Amino acid sequence: MSVRSSARQMLENQNIATEDHSVAASLVDATVKFGNFTAIDKISLDIDAGDFWTILGPSGCGKSTLLRLVSDLIPAASGSLQVLGKSTEEARLAREFAFVFQDATLLPWRSALSNVELPLEIGRKRGVKIPVGDKTPKELLEMVGLKGRETALPHELSGGMRQRVAIARALVCQPKLLLMDEPFGALDEMTRDRLNLQILDIWRETGTTILFVTHSITEAVFLGQKILMLQAHPGRVKKIVDIELPEPREITVRETPKFNKYCGELRELLEEC
Ligand SMILES: Nc1ncnc2c1ncn2[C@@H]1O[C@H](COP(=O)(O)OP(=O)(O)OP(=O)(O)O)[C@@H](O)[C@H]1O
Ligand SMILES: [Mg+2]
Repeated sequence: MSVRSSARQMLENQNIATEDHSVAASLVDATVKFGNFTAIDKISLDIDAGDFWTILGPSGCGKSTLLRLVSDLIPAASGSLQVLGKSTEEARLAREFAFVFQDATLLPWRSALSNVELPLEIGRKRGVKIPVGDKTPKELLEMVGLKGRETALPHELSGGMRQRVAIARALVCQPKLLLMDEPFGALDEMTRDRLNLQILDIWRETGTTILFVTHSITEAVFLGQKILMLQAHPGRVKKIVDIELPEPREITVRETPKFNKYCGELRELLEEC
């Protein structure tokens, strides 16, 4: 046993929490209840740091609830949960993760650039030490293809552009974990395709872990290295499917027999849920 692992063992033996940064999120029998209703029932899961997971499942099976649990928006009724080796509250306070919702939720009176800057401003006002990324807000806007639109107000941008501003804002604190709840669900197919490619570029460039909820089987297979299929009533893990497709993924992969085989298998699984 190496010095490091024996030290780690000693700490574990003493029951002192050790921060394991190779696992982005770890759930053991995590259960969420709303009153008497069990939304998520004993979910156990390890999400390795740097992985891209997509989450599929019928409406109401607990996909959003799972992301809200990981992001400390709601508590677990039982079971345990760690995000980057910390409690969800500690991870939230340390700005270890960021959330992108279906609706971009930008402040309408602020420009694209000052919307991206907002988390930094809030952090400064609250005296929170924020992990500032190596990219400035302006560079992040450029990374999501919005160079030249820094001063535009949200109502002057298209839905896809607003969503890209929201993604740049989510990246400004350099999150190690990016939680995305149907971020492209309201967009047309072409814009969605473009943003799918862009989010893969961002994932490769930043090395962040991504948990991405979608209703689209095609999107789930195209983006995910792993697909978490949830079943409903109560929300449980139906299956975890490894997706092995050539990297970096190109849009044309969707026309290959292997891609279609994954989609077919997942469609059958969804019908059983
Ligand atoms: N705050 C809440 N109070 C009571 N029940 C809730 C609450 N939030 C979610 N639920 C219930 O928990 C279950 C899971 O909801 P959740 O929003 O996680 O589903 P989902 O898989 O994201 O669905 P969709 O695909 O429609 O977005 C649903 O039955 C929902 O009605
Ligand atoms: Mg949802």
